[in-house]
Amino acid sequence: MASLAPLSSATDPDVAALIAARPHLSMHAFDGLVLEGVPLAAIADALGTPVWVYGAGTMRARLKELQAALAGLDAHVHYAVKANDHLAVLSVFARGGAGADVVSGGELLRARKAGVAADHIVFSGVGKTEAEIRLALGEGIFQINVESAAELAMISQIATAMGRMAQVALRVNPDVDAGTHAKITTGKAENKFGIPYDDAAALYAHAATLPGVQPVGIALHIGSQILSTAPYRAAFARAAELIRTLRANGQTVSRMDCGGGIGIGYQDEPGASPAALAGAMRAAFGEMGLQLMVEPGRWLVGPAGLLLASVILTKGDERFVVIDAAMNDLVRPAMYEAWHGIVPLAAGNAVGATSLVDVVGPICESSDTFATSRALPRLPAGSRVAILDAGAYGAVMSSTYNARGLPPIAMVDGDRWSVIRPRQDVEAMWANETIPDFLP
Ligand code: LLP
Repeated sequence: MASLAPLSSATDPDVAALIAARPHLSMHAFDGLVLEGVPLAAIADALGTPVWVYGAGTMRARLKELQAALAGLDAHVHYAVKANDHLAVLSVFARGGAGADVVSGGELLRARKAGVAADHIVFSGVGKTEAEIRLALGEGIFQINVESAAELAMISQIATAMGRMAQVALRVNPDVDAGTHAKITTGKAENKFGIPYDDAAALYAHAATLPGVQPVGIALHIGSQILSTAPYRAAFARAAELIRTLRANGQTVSRMDCGGGIGIGYQDEPGASPAALAGAMRAAFGEMGLQLMVEPGRWLVGPAGLLLASVILTKGDERFVVIDAAMNDLVRPAMYEAWHGIVPLAAGNAVGATSLVDVVGPICESSDTFATSRALPRLPAGSRVAILDAGAYGAVMSSTYNARGLPPIAMVDGDRWSVIRPRQDVEAMWANETIPDFLP
């Protein structure tokens, strides 16, 4: 639970500290808050608020940093599409040489559409349907991570009928505690994910006897927003031990998928370092002649995305700052008590005396709250703010609750920007709805 910060705390960094910790952001007297080389006020002026803004240069730089940390290991990055599945984002990573980790047929097709080669796609997930397995085999993807004996049997059957050979890795549940929020931990025995560690060797041997499937390796993913290498080291050690057992039994094991989960600094906690992750991978698997994979989502895109909003009004003697973004846009604070930095867009709003305020959305739910007792400079009606680190699990988890259309999205790259999704208007929201004739 340590790593997902509460909505407020005595250690809240101030506006200057939030910006200083994020090299892609800067504050300027005339331009206000700037992402890469683009003043965010210009985007808010052009598109209105709420609006998402993604920094392509930031995403690209983070991918490069991760790839550099993995250099020397035979390791490949598969971006976890679920964190942010916009085609432009996928395209940034595809052009940067990353593959994709997908968890549905929809994500698989998005990755293909954005230019990810089929043989750079890994399919994870506890409940792949027959249609999804058929799609994956038809596309000829690199690997399917199998999460149960039942799924293994399904894949064997479908692949045999299609005359295909599925390369599969067994996703084992190493039963380690990733020390993260209960709702995003996945590597404990009580979680629904993966194959129990003690069953893995027998299932691997069984897989080797089945038609249509070829077991090629082991996969694991222990949770998300992990800020310590200790759980990785523990999980990797267990996986290495399993691989040694399998090899001693005469099985061929050539790949190890180390999962995602690398955490970022939302509040004042330092983010995880890819170099430390690479070190843990080297320590466990360095001498084993394995093809290694990682599948991070949040670390690559989280810091690169912002949600811009305008203050509609303040109330309760300025205690409540009501903004035009809401929990339907960014659900993380409501769902996980997640802490997100909030920074005024105008330089003039970013200085001066602070007071403790609750930043809330307009939806009729108490959980529609972005920050509680947050020390912020005065934010009058009409002023604008950026909610930070919203690039991962932001727009992908939005809904149209309260008939609020999905906000537009802009992508910045250096000093250029363009709209990559327009605002959803109300007609588009009801375009696919029909009223049946039989209603009296
Ligand atoms: N691989 C698998 C099999 C996963 O289930 C996940 C995330 C990832 C990779 C990528 O994890 P990442 O590197 O992004 O931590 N909505 C939550 C996070 C849910 C993560 C689910 N699985 C949040 O907003 O914090």
